Amino acid sequence: MADTPTGIVHLTGAVVHGAGRGRGLGFPTANVTADPGSRIPPPAIYSGWVVRLASGVVHRGTISIGSNPTFCDTTEVHVEVYCHDTADEFYGERVGLWFVARIRDTVKFASPDDLVCAARRDVLWSEALLASGRGRRILTGALAAYRKTVSV
Ligand SMILES: Cc1cc2nc3c(=O)[nH]c(=O)nc-3n(C[C@H](O)[C@H](O)[C@H](O)COP(=O)(O)O)c2cc1C
Repeated sequence: MADTPTGIVHLTGAVVHGAGRGRGLGFPTANVTADPGSRIPPPAIYSGWVVRLASGVVHRGTISIGSNPTFCDTTEVHVEVYCHDTADEFYGERVGLWFVARIRDTVKFASPDDLVCAARRDVLWSEALLASGRGRRILTGALAAYRKTVSV
């Protein structure tokens, strides 16, 4: 990722309830409260892997970090992930987010429809990034870290 030339960025946290807007947009997101001390990447849209720490199940994701300026006038930063490959809701679970690449800046769109169009493009691009060599390497790192966690 351009912002982090030194290596892989990941954070862990718990999935909590968001504003409940995402499902209506067609992009339901898991809202993640990052663990204290986590280094949260700068606001932007990212491609990344989502590891459900209790089960080790991994999902392909597109991550939004930002204040949702299309809908909100606050500066509170939300960490949210849309999982491409499941409709599961995993409230209360702990997850690890493994960032693969930055896709674009967060935008204050003129309408929710404009956001949805952009999000569709983000997810397509995110799929390509996850399937890339870098994406696969980061997945391997995430799985290795998970194996280390469960073997101690
Ligand atoms: C792929 C993707 C791209 C997003 N891009 C933006 C964006 O550029 N601007 C923005 O205001 N919100 C963006 N969001 C965040 C949405 O505003 C947020 O997910 C939505 O408001 C639902 O929030 P909720 O989970 O709290 O209900 C994006 C979300 C996703 C999943």
